[in-house]
Amino acid sequence: MPKQRQILVTSALPYANGPIHIGHMVEYLQTDIWVRFQKMLGNHCLYVCADDAHGTPIMLKAQDEGIKPEALIARYHKEHQSDFASFNIQFDNYYSTHSAENRHFANFIFQQLDTKGHIATKTIHQAFDPQANMFLPDRFIKGECPNCGAADQYGDSCEVCGKTYSPLDMKNPVSVVSGATPITRQSEHLFFKLGDFEKILRSWTAKHVQAEIANKLNDWFEQGLQDWDISRDPPYFGFEIPGHPGKYFYVWLDAPIGYMASFKHYCEKNGLDFDQYWGGGSKAELYHFIGKDIAYFHTLFWPAMLHGAGFRMPEGVFCHGFLTVDGQKMSKSRGTFITAATYLKYLNPEYFRYYIAAKLGSGVDDIDFNLEDFVARVNSDLVGKVVNIASRCAGFIHKHSDGQLGSKLGEKKLFDQLAKTGKLIAECYEARQYSRAMREIMALADQANQYINDQAPWVLAKQEGQAVQVQAICTTGLNLFRQLVTYLKPVLPGLAADAERFLNIKPLQWSDAASPLLKHSINPFKPLLTRVEIEQVEAMVNESKQEWANSATPIPASNPNEPIAPTVSFDDFAKLDLRIAKIIQAKQVEGADKLLQLTLDLNGETRNVFAGIKSAYDPGELEGRLTVMVANLAPRKMKFGISEGMVLAAGPGGSDIFILSPDEGAIPGMRVK
Ligand code: MSP
Ligand code: ZN
Repeated sequence: MPKQRQILVTSALPYANGPIHIGHMVEYLQTDIWVRFQKMLGNHCLYVCADDAHGTPIMLKAQDEGIKPEALIARYHKEHQSDFASFNIQFDNYYSTHSAENRHFANFIFQQLDTKGHIATKTIHQAFDPQANMFLPDRFIKGECPNCGAADQYGDSCEVCGKTYSPLDMKNPVSVVSGATPITRQSEHLFFKLGDFEKILRSWTAKHVQAEIANKLNDWFEQGLQDWDISRDPPYFGFEIPGHPGKYFYVWLDAPIGYMASFKHYCEKNGLDFDQYWGGGSKAELYHFIGKDIAYFHTLFWPAMLHGAGFRMPEGVFCHGFLTVDGQKMSKSRGTFITAATYLKYLNPEYFRYYIAAKLGSGVDDIDFNLEDFVARVNSDLVGKVVNIASRCAGFIHKHSDGQLGSKLGEKKLFDQLAKTGKLIAECYEARQYSRAMREIMALADQANQYINDQAPWVLAKQEGQAVQVQAICTTGLNLFRQLVTYLKPVLPGLAADAERFLNIKPLQWSDAASPLLKHSINPFKPLLTRVEIEQVEAMVNESKQEWANSATPIPASNPNEPIAPTVSFDDFAKLDLRIAKIIQAKQVEGADKLLQLTLDLNGETRNVFAGIKSAYDPGELEGRLTVMVANLAPRKMKFGISEGMVLAAGPGGSDIFILSPDEGAIPGMRVK
């Protein structure tokens, strides 16, 4: 028995401000397949992940929705977990960076680095939005490229000429948050002195990253390692830095620490020793699976932070490329920006798992999801080759042998060959060469089908005295099927579970492929996978197109009979305090495209309300009118001030929005229900 390895594996933490899409899924699949393979070998392998819950985009999205960031990240936490579970991604723990454990480790690592002199303080000049009253991350500034003059470029780099620059150098910059012109403001920031770690990083990268990434790292070393700004000013959704009130850790500081936090949470629940995995000199293996876009963070900052704070460094950082669809970047307008949830409405997740595995190598090349090839490949390999073996053999075993496999194989040589090839396939999985593993497995499936074709049990079954021979052939066929399913199990756990039920066996382990299943009674065969049709794929793409087209309009223009929100109970409705209000003032809100600011009178009490009705009303025509408002809506902080309630409006949007006016005789403050 080889020694049992202790392995901890992570995937990058998805941001908690958007749905999981099939691009993300490449990464979680690559990791999940590797982890399942290790578990099947009998290694002690744990897979942890979490939502990346901090940062400006999450804070602003929550603000836009009028909810607390905590509520936003809780919603995505649930949604992400359900998407992952549906794709059979099996985490041992799925946590959040907005957790007590993460705060603890972020503080601890920062304090260690600070004590050892790796933190510097510098005053920097940054773009500041005077209207939203906040410093602006580069991506929240748009303007003209200082190099080529292209319009509508982000504050960090130009998509036209490829140049990177400081947002302060842009021409005609505009804040994406408020539309205001940013000003320059100074602030004191904390920096991590990455350069202190150049030597250790050079020797670490030589052994622990892929060749392509090592090359890239050499460029970065040549350019010189820059100090890294790890602090942000409020408003910011994140952890306040200990000893620096009013300063917050930049989201990328505490994001990778989230790997530790999730694992710590697992250790607490399962009585495992955290330090055995993370302590300096740990013998356990630690691997991070990531996309190529975040290599800098994982191969420079992160190992340096770990080392500087006295923790172990990763054993490996595995980068993959990006998913394209039909050769192009995923696109909302083409319908190829497909969320996990939309995919699941039309297609079996196992198909995608197989297709991606068939395409994934160990390098950083992009992976193309070619829709026609996907249909062809799934049908020919999974349905036509693998499942077909079982469906061709099962019937004879039931009809002629009472559901019993024979006591010996009809063709031991072929079984032995499949058993022997298991070693090569295992090496491919270990090295993340899944496409090669799938090729080897399908070559074996071809041989298995050839064997059944040659033996033609359907011919023998019609002849007298051939029952034993038919049983031996079909016993061989089903044993070959069982070996193939074993090898495919990391990729196709759902198919494997169905096959285990059909074969009436315990969950398959890797070593099971070495010995045959004989004198064993099996269950009736039910179709294990159905063919995929191109129409299903087209319907999925169409829905994706719709989905993103709708997301651009705030009020969906929908079929009047189609509910746009789920049914609420009467009790829920009864919680609303609806009152008549008089609009005593209505005015434009500078910098807002959709809002009017209303001052409402509820029989003596005045309320300030921002309403998204600018496209339908001039402020002048509203003053003096009566409307219905939700008087007990929690006040909501918006970019332009606090909104203390909501007026009721209806209509498809644009110029057709109607605020609901009660009868002339109504009295402000009067209850409406
Ligand atoms: N929150 C950071 C990661 C922090 S890890 C400490 C982040 N989140 S992300 O949601 O943008 O991406 C999560 C992972 O999905 C990343 O590894 C990213 O490379 C990967 N992918 C996102 N889109 C992808 C494709 N289209 N194709 C393949 N992988 C993709 O980055
Ligand atoms: Zn440019």
